[in-house]
Amino acid sequence: TQQIIDQAKAVMRKNDHGTYTVPTHGLYPFQWNWDSALSALGFAHFDEARAWTEIETLFAHQWDDGMVPHIIFHKHDDGYFPGPEVWGTGREVPTSGITQPPVAGFAVRRIFDRARDKELAAAKARTLLPLIHAWHQWFFSNRDPKGTGLVAIIHPWESGRDNSVDWDTAFERVPTDGVQPFTRRDTSHANPAHRPTDEQYKRYIWLVEKFRSLGWDNSKLHDASPFQIVDPGFNAILIRSCSDLAVLAETLGETEIAAQSQAMADKAIEAIETLWSDARGQYLCFDRSVGALVDSPSIGGILAAFAPIPKARAKAVSDRIEVLAASCNFLVPSHDPTAPEFDALRYWRGPIWLIVNYMIADGLECAGQTAMADRINRDCLRLIELGGFAEYYGPINAEPCGGDAFTWTAAMVIEILN
Ligand code: DGY
Repeated sequence: TQQIIDQAKAVMRKNDHGTYTVPTHGLYPFQWNWDSALSALGFAHFDEARAWTEIETLFAHQWDDGMVPHIIFHKHDDGYFPGPEVWGTGREVPTSGITQPPVAGFAVRRIFDRARDKELAAAKARTLLPLIHAWHQWFFSNRDPKGTGLVAIIHPWESGRDNSVDWDTAFERVPTDGVQPFTRRDTSHANPAHRPTDEQYKRYIWLVEKFRSLGWDNSKLHDASPFQIVDPGFNAILIRSCSDLAVLAETLGETEIAAQSQAMADKAIEAIETLWSDARGQYLCFDRSVGALVDSPSIGGILAAFAPIPKARAKAVSDRIEVLAASCNFLVPSHDPTAPEFDALRYWRGPIWLIVNYMIADGLECAGQTAMADRINRDCLRLIELGGFAEYYGPINAEPCGGDAFTWTAAMVIEILN
């Protein structure tokens, strides 16, 4: 065990740039939003100050409207596309113009609760609290303009699950005409058969160009986007972060933030119930542009268990994972292996991601589904023993895929083993 922890630490140190970590060298040479928040959990086990710095650096680049961007381009690197010139957000330190799953609220509470240096933790949490709260409020004002209680993503990259089957139908409505010619860089670092397709990339870039043409004005982007998806996994992360922030705020005597955070979480927990599908035995995405559920059995609807959903629902999600286990050797595949669109090694269309496993297991554990939580965690360890600290893994044969020496995979292993 100690040997694996040491290897994981070495991966994290290798990707550490002092005030932020890169997900992996080559493929992702900048700071990514949810990568950082989850990686901080790993740092906290062996360097608490460094963990706080990771999150502070992220929030030092928060926009005035409250959004926290998904990439911060700290240093020039032309090994990545789309770089700052494509985003054109006009920031002094360039950033992208979209966001990512808001896992920071959860991470900060957890690091605070486990802190050995209580004084440092209180000081850091106190500073971060209003910033994270502003980000949560930004979500509900800008991505839920009609006040439904749930937020939409307007670009697949926001979900983190870039090429999920969940987006296929909606993505057909995103045009590709007029997209500036470009050269992908990801496929020179990773196997193209394990990455999104060129057709998907054209649509990713069409959306970026569309939002850039609107000056990255978040009061306009949601309504202007032909892609508006309410993802149960994404919303579950937001709900969990809001409810965790409520507890943290209460502890720190910030009663107003506590009350507002809890109110946002409560409303969303009620609303997420509308995404439940009895037929699928899991939650589904909702396509806001057409007003219908997306009948796609992917991991977004399982990650919903990360939120404090009713215990009966957590049990149903655990049962659903049991069904998935019958068609793969490792849990939890990012798409149902029996579905026709399942693609065992292609990014989010089948492979296993340790960060998602970690969040699902944590939610199940909180809801008392400990046997399934333990099983998922055991599979995580089997995967790294077989394939090293990869970006993601095949659920049938445990192939390591994507980038290697991956920061958040290492961080999750440290979490699981501690
Ligand atoms: C990528 O470039 O693959 C990222 O997922 C976008 O954030």
